[in-house]
Amino acid sequence: MNISLSRDPKFSRIDNLFILLAEGETAPAFPFETALNKKIAAAIARSGFTGRQDEGLTLLLEGEPRKLTLIGVGKPDSFNRRTARAAIHGIARIAQRNADASIAVYSPRLLPGDDPEETALFMLDRLAHSDYRYMTFKTGEEARRIEVHCTLIPAGDLDAKTGKRILDKAKVIADSVRVARDLGNAPGNEITPARLADRAREVAKEAGLTCTVHDRKQIEKLGMGGLLAVNRGSAEEPRFIVLEWAPRKAKKTVCFVGKGITFDSGGISIKPAEKMEEMKFDMSGAGTVIAIMRAVAMLELPVRVIGLIPSTENLPGGKAYKPGDIIRTMSGKTVEIVNTDAEGRMILCDALHYAIRYAPDHLIDFATLTGACVVALGFEASGLFSNDDELAQLLINASESAGEPVWRLPEWDDYKEYIRSDWADMKNVGGRWGGAVTAALFLKQFVECPSWAHLDIAGTAYTESENARDPRGATGTGVRMALRFLETLA
Ligand code: BES
Ligand code: ZN
Ligand code: ZN
Repeated sequence: MNISLSRDPKFSRIDNLFILLAEGETAPAFPFETALNKKIAAAIARSGFTGRQDEGLTLLLEGEPRKLTLIGVGKPDSFNRRTARAAIHGIARIAQRNADASIAVYSPRLLPGDDPEETALFMLDRLAHSDYRYMTFKTGEEARRIEVHCTLIPAGDLDAKTGKRILDKAKVIADSVRVARDLGNAPGNEITPARLADRAREVAKEAGLTCTVHDRKQIEKLGMGGLLAVNRGSAEEPRFIVLEWAPRKAKKTVCFVGKGITFDSGGISIKPAEKMEEMKFDMSGAGTVIAIMRAVAMLELPVRVIGLIPSTENLPGGKAYKPGDIIRTMSGKTVEIVNTDAEGRMILCDALHYAIRYAPDHLIDFATLTGACVVALGFEASGLFSNDDELAQLLINASESAGEPVWRLPEWDDYKEYIRSDWADMKNVGGRWGGAVTAALFLKQFVECPSWAHLDIAGTAYTESENARDPRGATGTGVRMALRFLETLA
């Protein structure tokens, strides 16, 4: 959706005016001119609309706007980011179905804990994404969708200058999240490690980032034994992508690492066929990091930010790494492979080790790392693991205001026994129990930064089917949270 912001849009150009209403809030004072206020209040009173969550009712008005659609958001005090997202998702569906090319959205409530600025930013960014669909490979009738233009009428006081700044920022964030979603949704034959690197280069050029791409020879020279081991079963070359934003006035350095498995078959420890196609999303962490880097540069955040992406496919080939193999990683630490499907940690360990050279204040990785994390938290929250309570709290705060929930799980050394190996420094899996924790603990063995966080986004990076808030496919999770976090450092 195209987005704009106005306290008083020209209703002659609006096909449908959407108003978000809570229960019992059926006749609030609207900020429109008096005649329109009266007309809306009368229409609502006649309609029997109650404001229940998921209620949607389109009314015809005399004059302009011609259509008024009421969207229920439930109990007044339960209006939050989640219900707002559901309402916005509903709005986009109605607008598409009715071919409303130009809509206005008025949401009279502020989000809990947010001022008018933050509320408008959230609403604008989410509206921009509300009719997102990955259409690159659709050629027929379905591909022809109408372009909807949406004007947000903000809640609370927002002067024109602030409004313009918020709108510009929302566009940068929304466009960056779109980069992550497009990358995630792209099939594995389209986004190979080399093509992922090409996209990173393009984004870097557009946004003004430095981009260095290491090919196999250079990865060998660096000694990234984990990345090379996973790559051995694949006919596609690996890549190690480095993106850099280094403003002169920066006082802090943050390194992001993103898992870039462009397809995960499991390798020799092959996955079942059912849902294996979902493993094209296994580079979602990489997509998130590329999107973060784009936004950081375009918003010119005064923090030095590095994005590191190890990328390969994980396939079973004649040369593939095998259970029982012992791999020497870049750090010098050795790993006994017990399951080749635990490949994410094998490529991340080298990238986490590589990060030392930047002496980061904070080191944060995003990875669709374990099915166990999805067992623990389902699809509603990412797993957060950290060796630094302060960083963990900053990320929890950022995730709340971004509307991208995370939940903290332990990375305690108490679990170390689970990954003990008789033959090498550690095993690459910890057995059946606590799989998300042992994966995090494995990564921790390669972290030399006192302030590290790992986000397991296996359950949040994509939806298996459309839900009340999102269409099927990649969500771009983590981008908004990371940007909020970086702003608190600036
Ligand atoms: N990419 C998967 C994790 C995953 C599972 C992501 C489901 C998204 C949805 C990862 O590489 C993997 O296969 N992990 C194994 C680890 C196990 C072998 C210890 C898993 O979770 O089963
Ligand atoms: Zn795997
Ligand atoms: Zn994987």
